[in-house]
Amino acid sequence: MSSNAIPPQDALSSSGQRVALGVTGGIAAYKAAEVLRGLQRAGCRVRVAMTEHATRMIAPLTFRALSGEHVIVDDYAPDNPDPIAHITFSQTVDLLLIAPATANILAKFAHGIADDFLTSTYLACTAPVLVAPAMNTIMWQHPATRRNLSQLRADGVHIIEPDAGEMACGTFGPGRLSEPERIVTAALAMLGETNNPANWRELDLKAERILITAGATREEIDPVRFISNRSSGRMGFALAEAARARGAEVTIVAGITSVEPPAGVRVVRAPSAAEMLEAVTHEVTNSTVFIGAAAVADYRVASPSAHKLKKSNQIFTLVLEPTPDILASVSGARHDELLVIGFAAESDDLLKHAREKLARKNLDAIVANDITRDGAGFDSATNIVTLLARDRTEPIALPKLSKLETAHRILDEVVRLRSTPAEHGAFGSAKTSHPA
Ligand code: CTP
Repeated sequence: MSSNAIPPQDALSSSGQRVALGVTGGIAAYKAAEVLRGLQRAGCRVRVAMTEHATRMIAPLTFRALSGEHVIVDDYAPDNPDPIAHITFSQTVDLLLIAPATANILAKFAHGIADDFLTSTYLACTAPVLVAPAMNTIMWQHPATRRNLSQLRADGVHIIEPDAGEMACGTFGPGRLSEPERIVTAALAMLGETNNPANWRELDLKAERILITAGATREEIDPVRFISNRSSGRMGFALAEAARARGAEVTIVAGITSVEPPAGVRVVRAPSAAEMLEAVTHEVTNSTVFIGAAAVADYRVASPSAHKLKKSNQIFTLVLEPTPDILASVSGARHDELLVIGFAAESDDLLKHAREKLARKNLDAIVANDITRDGAGFDSATNIVTLLARDRTEPIALPKLSKLETAHRILDEVVRLRSTPAEHGAFGSAKTSHPA
């Protein structure tokens, strides 16, 4: 990084925030010095902790000279001025940043192993955590590392994906530590507005064109009456807002909604299932990700009346026919690049039904929610969802979160799936869903 790549201090809010910088034993450990300097120029106070292996790559003295603070490697060491350093260190910081993060440290964090100062600090830390992994491409792509990263994401850890390029070992591929200036920018974004999850991620979706369905559909009975459901559009709109904040180009095909769509996204209105299918079929050809968050009516009136139906004292029967399954139709005609994510709203046997929909509709991932739980489902500001993916046997059960934070977790899964080779059709060809 050139020295003028680091933002000058007066260009940034003078945060005076406290960052714990953890340095682990990768070849890129020397770049942590640039990260430290960048954070200092932005007005942060930085203290450094190193793993034993990192000290073989770069001397603690370098960080001591740059930070002006004691560098902790072993909190039992006689020269450590603080006898319970892992507690005080971890609880007096505004951000714990690990750069570079080796495959080993990711594995330890993911499993809660606390066998040295840095891992104990992570477990005792109440501040947000940001990790910048760096490792050999094969190690980065290893299923064990993918699993550990998924676990860390599910635990709320923020990850700066490594860059692709020539590695120290001479191979090409992803695994190289992200540029120090990007790490500094991501850290400052987290420090700047830690209450706003949109600021916790970098622009990791800027290459994506995301199409999202949202809201309820309305199926006409006659000119004044209709069949619909309670969906507000909040979950679909939260996905759109989060995707937009992460750099994606976003189009929403919205049915009937009771809240405003977010700024900066294109909205196409499609009130009925048939109109939604038509709009989606048209838009999806230009999309790289499709997320079906709409509550599409499963039935419509077979012959809607052109005139207002008159009241009588007789029992009245409406004849209903199934609507098209938009999600299954998209995945059945998908192009190679397209990731297809669905939702499963269930009131019983959540995982069984969700797994069945994931397979039957040939999806990359499905977001399952038990609509009977307090704080989940329709017309609520929060959600409680479980994520299932085509390449993962274990579901990820998320806690009760705002719909915006839930949206970010779903998009983290999109980012992960994008870097995982697809085997579409692994579940057989998609069929049109049965109505419910
Ligand atoms: N979906 C769709 N078109 C339909 C029905 C559903 O695109 N006609 C999509 C929803 O947007 C959601 C997923 O399919 O992403 C699952 O919807 P859900 O209502 O949970 O399941 P159904 O397939 O309708 O099955 P059931 O109602 O029997 O649970």
